[in-house]
Amino acid sequence: MRDLILGQVLSYTADPFAAGPDAARLTEGLVVEGGKIIAVGPADALHRSYPEATVTDYGTDLISAGFIDAHAHYPQTAMIASWGKRLIDWLNTYTFPEEMRFSNQTYAEDVANRYFDLTVSNGTTSVCSYCTIHSESVDAFFGAAAARNQRVWAGKTCMDRNAPDGLQDTAQSAYDDSARLLSKWHGQGRASYVITPRFSPTSTEDQLAALGSLWADNPDCLMQTHLSEQTDEIAWVRDLFPSARDYLDTYERHGLLGRGGLYGHAIHLEPREKSRLAEVDASLIHCPTSNTFIGSGLFDMGGLKAAGHRIGLATDTGGGSSFSMLRTMAAAYEVAQLRGRSLHPSELWWLATAGSAQALHADHLIGNIAHGMEADLVVINLASTPAIAQATTRASTIWEAIFPTIMMGDDRAIRDVWIAGKRRV
Ligand code: GUN
Ligand code: ZN
Repeated sequence: MRDLILGQVLSYTADPFAAGPDAARLTEGLVVEGGKIIAVGPADALHRSYPEATVTDYGTDLISAGFIDAHAHYPQTAMIASWGKRLIDWLNTYTFPEEMRFSNQTYAEDVANRYFDLTVSNGTTSVCSYCTIHSESVDAFFGAAAARNQRVWAGKTCMDRNAPDGLQDTAQSAYDDSARLLSKWHGQGRASYVITPRFSPTSTEDQLAALGSLWADNPDCLMQTHLSEQTDEIAWVRDLFPSARDYLDTYERHGLLGRGGLYGHAIHLEPREKSRLAEVDASLIHCPTSNTFIGSGLFDMGGLKAAGHRIGLATDTGGGSSFSMLRTMAAAYEVAQLRGRSLHPSELWWLATAGSAQALHADHLIGNIAHGMEADLVVINLASTPAIAQATTRASTIWEAIFPTIMMGDDRAIRDVWIAGKRRV
């Protein structure tokens, strides 16, 4: 069974930060079979080559690769938009009490299902999430993703200090539980396990070393953590690790720096940290709604991209204030403006799709519309509200037609979503 899907099909031939906005292409259709894209091109040619295909015609709607959220905390779904705190207070006041509830499998499953409903309705087809310290939270996440056949990444969050009783493991149990969950879930269908020390302040050196050795034993897994998000946090790391050269060194000296490392936030970086991150080709994950919401700072997208860093885009739910990658692109635009760089809509859209896929080392599978890629698609109504519709009436280029949706769009702009070649109704 083949599907011929028609609309304004957006794809990329290169990274627009390097190649310019012309790295994007528009065509009229694609054909999907067995969960993959088997052809892309003009409607006439596709009709001729695949006359028996079932046709779904989205008219002037935009068809893109589904959005990829490269850093989220699904267990924070229920406490998103909690008022008035900065990072450490916010963790202690809102986050940790909520994460305690995930020892209960039923609660974890309920939130995981709600999380996927919310993200898919916002056009996000893949996510890379933290779970909690509880194995139940990992099983709930991967179970809910498998039921939807979504390509996902996640891991058990490890913490053995500076967190409440009931939300701590140990160096040994973090290693053992992570290893068991890794062998249970990694490579099962579209699931990938990610080794997940939360951040240096909540792990002892023993725990960081244990997870470093787990990563060395499983080098095809990604590793995710947080890095240099807030200045108070960095000062705390300096107190906790007096002999470390800098924040990154607290990971580096325990085998937690490498290609396949995902470093969330990465705002207040020292020159040594930047050069080591670039040298090993690590991924930096930009979480702009979180960075403004928690008051963390302004990520240097222009400078870091120019220096060749691998960068993905993410909501950081629920430090981030939205489940929407459209809203996240808007925040990335605003943060970059405050640093004197106007990100082109082509660059923003690339970050939310192919850029995040590159950051997750999955750009051969997802994040673009091209022959052989997995058929995860989002269909966007470019006139989804009266405010957006009136702003696009004079658009003379595709980017002028898309930018109002980036800046003002929400889940009302999501006309449809396809996951692994199946339309999600
Ligand atoms: N640093 C350590 N844990 C977290 C978290 O849950 N959210 C954010 N934004 N930063 C963190
Ligand atoms: Zn985070």
